[in-house]
Amino acid sequence: MGYKINEELIEKIHDSCDLIDIVSRYVHMKRTGSNYVGLCPFHNEKTPSFTVSSTKQLFHCFGCGTGGDVITFIMKIENLSFLEAVKYLAELYGIPLEEDDDNVSNQRKLEQEKIYEINRTAAIYYYQMLSKNSKAVNYLRGRNIDITKIKMFGLGYALDSWTNMFDYLKGKGYDEADIEKSGLISKSKGNTKYYDKFRNRIIFPIIDTKNRVLGFGGRVLDDSKPKYLNSPDTLVFEKGKNLYGLNLIYKHSNREKIILVEGYMDVISLFSRGINYAVASLGTSLTNYQARLLKRFGKQVYVCYDSDEAGTRATLRALNVLKQEGVDARVITLPEKYDPDDYVREYGLEGFNRLESTALNYIDYNIFILKRTHDLTTPEGKIRFTKKVANLIRDLKSPIEQDVYMDKIAMDTKVSKEAIRNEVIGKASPIIINKDKYINVKKSHTNIINPVETVIEPAQLTAEKNLILLMIRSRSNFELIKKHIEVDDFSSDNYRTLTKAIFDEYKNNPHVIDIDIKEITNKIFEKGNRIDADVAKEIADSSIESSIENIDKFIKDLIDTVKYYKLKNEREEISKKIKEIEQKKDLKEKEVEELRRLCVRLTELDKELNTHT
Ligand code: UTP
Ligand code: MN
Repeated sequence: MGYKINEELIEKIHDSCDLIDIVSRYVHMKRTGSNYVGLCPFHNEKTPSFTVSSTKQLFHCFGCGTGGDVITFIMKIENLSFLEAVKYLAELYGIPLEEDDDNVSNQRKLEQEKIYEINRTAAIYYYQMLSKNSKAVNYLRGRNIDITKIKMFGLGYALDSWTNMFDYLKGKGYDEADIEKSGLISKSKGNTKYYDKFRNRIIFPIIDTKNRVLGFGGRVLDDSKPKYLNSPDTLVFEKGKNLYGLNLIYKHSNREKIILVEGYMDVISLFSRGINYAVASLGTSLTNYQARLLKRFGKQVYVCYDSDEAGTRATLRALNVLKQEGVDARVITLPEKYDPDDYVREYGLEGFNRLESTALNYIDYNIFILKRTHDLTTPEGKIRFTKKVANLIRDLKSPIEQDVYMDKIAMDTKVSKEAIRNEVIGKASPIIINKDKYINVKKSHTNIINPVETVIEPAQLTAEKNLILLMIRSRSNFELIKKHIEVDDFSSDNYRTLTKAIFDEYKNNPHVIDIDIKEITNKIFEKGNRIDADVAKEIADSSIESSIENIDKFIKDLIDTVKYYKLKNEREEISKKIKEIEQKKDLKEKEVEELRRLCVRLTELDKELNTHT
């Protein structure tokens, strides 16, 4: 049996797939306003005319006229039929495919539609009951929620009665069985009688981006327990697959940012102060599905949970889930005993914005929490703290980032950077060259071939240093290396000066077969050029394993590494420039032109970098 393609499945695909995300797998895209542009993958071009709109979730190429939605894109780029493309995307995003059984799926669809209808009817009734109930209105007023907010969020009130809603819905002609499926009523234990789930509670309808009422949350008006009740999961409502407030994000936010908070009241309260980009995770811990929704509805994701212990644990969990989905989220940390609602009420929009601007990234937040839970005044506390931070630093991909954090922690703890470095590399087995093996420097992007003393350095510098060491060791190495690399390929002034001197020395003295590093540095100084004494000394003190088996291949790998990083550095610079231009408000024609040129170069670089890995 095949699988069922229906509106619901297509909707789910549109809900979970971000076109920008998908297209970026194939095309290097750059932002211009709310659109993204890149080189069209469907025809040959040098200037980008392929445009993707993140708000509309559509693409269009002004060059060749191709366009469509995410499914069209996958059909074209992967050369798939419509059905295959849908299947491909469903699998990519973990959307279950239903078997093709018309009767079953039609039946299900009808049931769902009925639930939506009942929910909508109930929501309207709850809303009407609210305006008639001064106790409920007063409660909301006490929490600074006025009539515009009540309307905007469709808030309501469930009367203090066991069957008011049940009777109302039956009066509207709905079947008991259908009403039960909506989760608004349930049967009492051992009894056959139905009763209302929500009684004497403020009602928060949970609405999706298509304005359908999925379910409800209900809060007591006093201190009784449970404080909140939520609809059970139904045919239209799965808690882990929705976020409270998404409907309003869809309408009001510019999707630059999105804040994840814990509660209904937080969303409403932030909204009242002009922060129209908060959603709540509905009382469950964040799921991967919700993380993908966040990613889709805000470019920068913030987590702002309560500052208590439960909130902190939930924040760490949320950060990890977001990380799994490739989201670099930031944490807005509230002072103790505050939730976003309390905070914004006390400090206003300005205060909240200030807090938002100091939000911490993954590692900084983790360090912040570790600091709070370890006593850095005792040696034991310091040791445990440093070890845990070392675990975090080890996971950082960039050697530079690692270095920055090692510095930071060394300052904070007064533990030597060297010791931290050793802790960081301690568990990752050091890579040492021995007699019959060498590492493929390019692949591992880690390094060093000094077997005596293993020091991890940025791979680029290590490769450059090793090339210099090889060149001074023998003319034959030099001849091999100079075929592939130029002085300007080296990244630092010091290394360039040194390499230039080595090149000159071999060229000017045909009989020289190796070079003494001390002599060459003296010559550099005599000529009035400079290299750092430290660098000269470091090279002089370094050694290289003497018997590398396949020296040609070894050198080739080093050269690849150097070139790889050179491209990478250029890429970083270009993307920095692109960001700078993008920050400007009104782009002049010249800047647009420059932007295009940079995008083209970026795409070229990405292609080259891809062949390097
Ligand atoms: P909180 O207890 O932090 O509530 O629960 P809050 O939003 O600050 O509520 P107020 O300000 O006292 O009105 C956060 C969220 O956890 C879920 C709800 O979704 C709530 O908004 N929750 C909480 C429940 O589902 N059940 C509960 O009993 C409590
Ligand atoms: Mn609260």
